[in-house]
Amino acid sequence: MRIAVCCTNTKVEPWLHGLRAALPGATVSLVDPEAAGFDPAAQADYAVVWSPPQAFIDSQHSLKAIFNIGAGVDALMKLKLPLGVPVIRLDDAGMSVQMAEYVCQAVIRHFREFEAHESDATQGRWTYRKSSHRAEFTIGVMGLGVLGSRVCQALAQFEYPVLGWSRSPKSLDGVQCFAGESGFKDFLAATRVLVCLLPLTPDTEGIMRRDTLSQLKPGGYVINVARGRHLVDDDLLALIDSGHLAGATLDVFRTEPLPATHPFCQHPKITVTPHMSARTLRDESIAQIAGKLRALDGGAAVSSLAGVVNLNRGY
Ligand code: NAP
Ligand code: GLV
Repeated sequence: MRIAVCCTNTKVEPWLHGLRAALPGATVSLVDPEAAGFDPAAQADYAVVWSPPQAFIDSQHSLKAIFNIGAGVDALMKLKLPLGVPVIRLDDAGMSVQMAEYVCQAVIRHFREFEAHESDATQGRWTYRKSSHRAEFTIGVMGLGVLGSRVCQALAQFEYPVLGWSRSPKSLDGVQCFAGESGFKDFLAATRVLVCLLPLTPDTEGIMRRDTLSQLKPGGYVINVARGRHLVDDDLLALIDSGHLAGATLDVFRTEPLPATHPFCQHPKITVTPHMSARTLRDESIAQIAGKLRALDGGAAVSSLAGVVNLNRGY
């Protein structure tokens, strides 16, 4: 089995070592079409990638599958991929628990006004604040896939009313589910805290913009942990500054790293983190990918694997 690894913005050596250790019979090579010594004749059976250049895809003519070392495949979907070659993304691999942890902390921090309490404490003030009503603190999660459904479950543990929205109808314990275009308006109107866990596709790009965010309950709050391009930055800023929205916690941005001069960085009502809500865990991910490679090599059908991307839908 020949495996080509091609990743940008990633420390690639540990992936090579990990894949070689997990698959001792395989040839695992680093392929960088922009590096000196690149051999366009070297062909692989499988590719393991993160945001590879088009030149890498174009150089490979015998791929049986492409493995993406992340959950989101939006960077891959921008490329011209070889017809008929399946794309397999990470399926959880330790991300959903991190995402549940991150979203719960953002919701709880906002609901319990931790920031204000901490600020009071640093100024030597002992202040009791009137608490919000949990029953009115409705949380709406857009995207009920691997990550969104785990987040809903975790939020429900704290007895917040939880709503979910997905493309196709879903049924999740303790979650009021909405689906499709027809369910979107009612979902937004009932939501106080909006969490985005959608894949970035042509249908979802810019989904959090003035007309949609204006439909949230007054005092609404936005948590974006999916992709920066889901959000129209200026619309969020305008709605916070007008007082319709109370603030936001943002982990993903149109440009990453987020430039220090971006208005989000200094905004008192916006909390920014550096795309860390659910990191790719290398050991778990290598184990998952190696397991799937062994299965495919042993003759398993691609359709039997979790995480196969529907290339028509783009996720
Ligand atoms: P997933 O399992 O594919 O789930 C995607 C969900 O979004 C599904 O419920 C899907 O509906 C729904 N959806 C897709 N298009 C829709 C549309 N047009 N309207 C309504 N719902 C739509 O994906 P996942 O593993 O949960 O990951 C979600 C995203 O999180 C990734 O794509 C990635 O961008 C992001 N992510 C971020 C981080 C981070 O650290 N910030 C880490 C990992 C992932 P159906 O169920 O009906 O198909
Ligand atoms: C991270 O953002 C991922 O898509 O895995």
